[in-house]
Amino acid sequence: MDAIKKTVFSGVQPTGKITLGNYLGAIRNWGPLQDQYNCLYCVVDMHSITVSQVAAELRKNTMDLVALYIACGVDPTKSGLFIQSHVPQHAELCWVLDTISYIGELNRMTQFKEKSRKHADNINMGLMNYPVLMAADILLYQTDLVPVGKDQIQHLELARNLAERFNNRYSETFVVPEGLVFKQGSSIKSLQDPLSKMSKSDPNENAVISLMDDPDTIARKFKRAVTDSDTVVRFGEDKPAISNLLTIYSLTSGETIEQAEQRFAGQGYGVFKQAVADAVIAVVKPIQDEQRRLIADKAYLESVLKAGAEQAERIAAKTLAKVYRKVGFVPKIR
Ligand code: AMP
Ligand code: TRP
Repeated sequence: MDAIKKTVFSGVQPTGKITLGNYLGAIRNWGPLQDQYNCLYCVVDMHSITVSQVAAELRKNTMDLVALYIACGVDPTKSGLFIQSHVPQHAELCWVLDTISYIGELNRMTQFKEKSRKHADNINMGLMNYPVLMAADILLYQTDLVPVGKDQIQHLELARNLAERFNNRYSETFVVPEGLVFKQGSSIKSLQDPLSKMSKSDPNENAVISLMDDPDTIARKFKRAVTDSDTVVRFGEDKPAISNLLTIYSLTSGETIEQAEQRFAGQGYGVFKQAVADAVIAVVKPIQDEQRRLIADKAYLESVLKAGAEQAERIAAKTLAKVYRKVGFVPKIR
């Protein structure tokens, strides 16, 4: 790894179907960062088990997501690509960070409150601890930048606070990370309710475009997408539904919002929605083909994961050793 370059770290949970929101808000931005930064991209399987999973499905989703990262532009010859549970230091650092995290601050996390409401029968310690594990993910690699969607800003703030708290208590140890939230696409909305985010766990299938949806399904979902009261294709706070579709169109077609507004001036929503669907299909279809090809090449994926875990563990072990020394653990005799 190049020591002068800054470090980028990000991850997605291998839970359920990866959405167009995950892609436009996060994964799509990862590839272009690879030349400028030392990048580490992680499939965060340990985060996934904070809500109940079927083991065989989790295993499949994890490998599918590894393939998806590559299909979306993560180049394993440039970036470290690995699975969280392959690097034991994540859980180990999490424990130490737990001892400087306050129940009050974790209890206030928006995502914890939402998930507690949604999974009222399974409000487990892991669910509450989720943001501390995320902080461990980030801080282990002395990360400078964390490209994520808007919904992760609060978790990032906690990671920054924990880094500063540890540094203050035990002396300078961690880089304090910054979020990298892109202006466009950082909060893609539900197609059925443009005031709430497009979410993996939405029970209404029509609300969510999965990256795995076939072209007909994508076209049908956009056709059924809710719209705003007038019939003008225009971006604006008073038009959340059309603004969301314009954002999706702009990010997938490469046209600016203004160009798109001009293109669809005087045309109805029907024409516009079909064009949005076409633009999304044109982006998603080659990703699906490449992902399918990669999933069939298990030996290649395994070689990527082996190298990725080794690369990650080298850095993680160094940070953890430093942390253990600072808190006063006796070094292991080797
Ligand atoms: P998750 O699905 O919670 O594992 O999220 C993985 C990444 O996708 C994170 O960086 C999220 O911020 C991002 N993300 C999830 N949903 C959306 C959305 N609707 N719009 C933009 N980014 C999103
Ligand atoms: N919590 C993130 C999400 O749900 C996923 C995640 C876990 C992550 N660890 C991370 C993202 C570290 C960035 C950096 O979207």
